[in-house]
Amino acid sequence: MTAKIIDGNAVAQRMRAEIAQAVADMKAKHGIVPGLATVLIGDNPASHSYVRMKRKACAEAGIESFPHELPGNASQEEVEALVRRLNEDPRVHGILVQLPLPRHLDEERILSLISLTKDVDGFHPVNIGRLAMKGREPLFIPCTPHGAIVLLEEAGAQFEGANAVVLGRSNIVGLPAAMLLIHRNATVTVCHSRTRDLPAVCRQADILIAAVGRPEMVRADWVKPGAYVIDVGSNKVDDPASEKGYRWVGDVAFDEVKEVAGAITPSPGGVGPMTITMLLKNTLRGAELAISGAV
Ligand code: GUN
Repeated sequence: MTAKIIDGNAVAQRMRAEIAQAVADMKAKHGIVPGLATVLIGDNPASHSYVRMKRKACAEAGIESFPHELPGNASQEEVEALVRRLNEDPRVHGILVQLPLPRHLDEERILSLISLTKDVDGFHPVNIGRLAMKGREPLFIPCTPHGAIVLLEEAGAQFEGANAVVLGRSNIVGLPAAMLLIHRNATVTVCHSRTRDLPAVCRQADILIAAVGRPEMVRADWVKPGAYVIDVGSNKVDDPASEKGYRWVGDVAFDEVKEVAGAITPSPGGVGPMTITMLLKNTLRGAELAISGAV
């Protein structure tokens, strides 16, 4: 069996067109343009590249972006002062502090300072806390796991009673992905570096989300025939045969797993474009909250 390929670019493009239309309608009706402030600290090349992509996507959707760059030795006080200023700025409806932060900075304190109604990453402890509880609604859901769930829904995955396995327990992807699956009534197993017999656990999965950052770790014999496989990984590997000398691969050995899975996302071209799309959607929501007087 060859899997259905879940085209993240196509889903993202459709959703971004809808978002752009909603942004234009908001501007026409309320005279308000949604605005995203990006805070980038230090010179991590991957972070610079991600923030560039996020700003470009904002521009394409008609969302204004307000870039802020601080040196890698910025003090905790400087970062906190910036976040406080952005909280007060009425043009800003979303604040994104790109992670990881330099080690001397207190990430939890900084993320806690972001106004709840501008927390477009969904990383504020109150939003994450609400996501972790039954019957509570976070104002924002973290973008990457939410994008992964939207792709599963688009592909027709059934969550109710399904065995879902999440590989990885990061705050950004693995843990919130597990919570989103539980809310959809899946039976969820979260795997990590201490999990015994990882391939056997993964083989139980009707839905497998791989978010460990290990190139092509998930092999064909880890996957139950017909399973839905979502690859969150994006790993740069040496490739002397390519022009650039490297290429990007996911956490899943795509070529072999697609012969076993029922549906699979490629990487690149799967979850990546969805992460940015969910960020645009959250920024639009931030502007809607401001208009409705929630801010
Ligand atoms: N670093 C990796 N992924 C993300 C993300 O979704 N948001 C932020 N702010 N930083 C990240």
